[in-house]
Amino acid sequence: MRFEQTFMNFILQHQERHNRTYHFLILMDAIISAAKRIQHYYLTGALKGNLGLVGSVNVQGEEVMRMDQIAQEITIHYLGSCGRVIHAVSEETKEIIPINTEGGRYFVYFDSLDGSSNVSHGLPVGFLFGIAKRNLDGPEDGHLRAGKDYRAAGMFVIPTGTFTLALLDSGTWRFHIDEIMNFVKPIQVMLPEDTRSWELSFNEANRRAFAERVQAWIAEKERKYAFRYLGALAGDFHRILSNGGLFMYPAIVNHPNPEKNRPKGKLRLMYEAAVVAFICREAGGDAVDEAGTPILEIQPEEPHQRTALYVGSKPLVDDIAQILRG
Ligand code: F6P
Repeated sequence: MRFEQTFMNFILQHQERHNRTYHFLILMDAIISAAKRIQHYYLTGALKGNLGLVGSVNVQGEEVMRMDQIAQEITIHYLGSCGRVIHAVSEETKEIIPINTEGGRYFVYFDSLDGSSNVSHGLPVGFLFGIAKRNLDGPEDGHLRAGKDYRAAGMFVIPTGTFTLALLDSGTWRFHIDEIMNFVKPIQVMLPEDTRSWELSFNEANRRAFAERVQAWIAEKERKYAFRYLGALAGDFHRILSNGGLFMYPAIVNHPNPEKNRPKGKLRLMYEAAVVAFICREAGGDAVDEAGTPILEIQPEEPHQRTALYVGSKPLVDDIAQILRG
């Protein structure tokens, strides 16, 4: 028989190698439990009618779907019962969510069902999360941490069953779900240097609404690279991590209806952009915003702050960053 190393064994060994406590392991067990349960609901969602609209709107003004609520409830349950989380920031909740404010050790920023336009089709969505740690050596200095202060960040592609986790200074690792719902077989992910597999990924429908310099950059690069877009960050970024290239969600500044402009971008800094930026950095890549500022350097001012995002292979990020910085 052939046995693959489980995620839990991998993370246990990592903690022991670095002489760390088991608190992080306990938190990761909670996140994995939540992801598996969401995976289960998603797989049977179409059958059981869980993929439709509820009819209400969330804090971002988007329609809430049944699966969004299910995923939120599951995640909050497990984060609460593990006892290690002080506060959480979730895509579904306007305010910071207090969990174990006295005894907790970590801040968790998450979107447990990202890529909602794919939900009603049962197509891939993501569970994205970033983890920061309480200041154990002095007074707490705030709950909204910049990406550079995350200790780990990860994403599940649901229901595909892949899990990618980046650990601070310890690389980006990919796991696959097995037949008994264990995430197994760690493989370190590094962005490929060979440009032949590189891809560009962005919503082509928005292209003419991007800044002129971004449009010009795309026009030059698109002759060289393939184009792919799924419409769910975890899925699109998963491809970029494997094949190399650039995922971007630029600012919308030239929309024919000015009310639809999004000069600050669409994606959320804390639980979308900073998560993939952290994963990307540990895999040898980089990420910047519309001003060419590194995503991981941006100090969030509010939990649901938006940002433009350019993330992927370092040479492409450096190239577009130079143009964005003017
Ligand atoms: O913010 C949620 C999200 O669904 C991301 O997962 C995805 O990358 C993006 O929005 C897709 O947006 P659009 O439908 O505008 O291309």
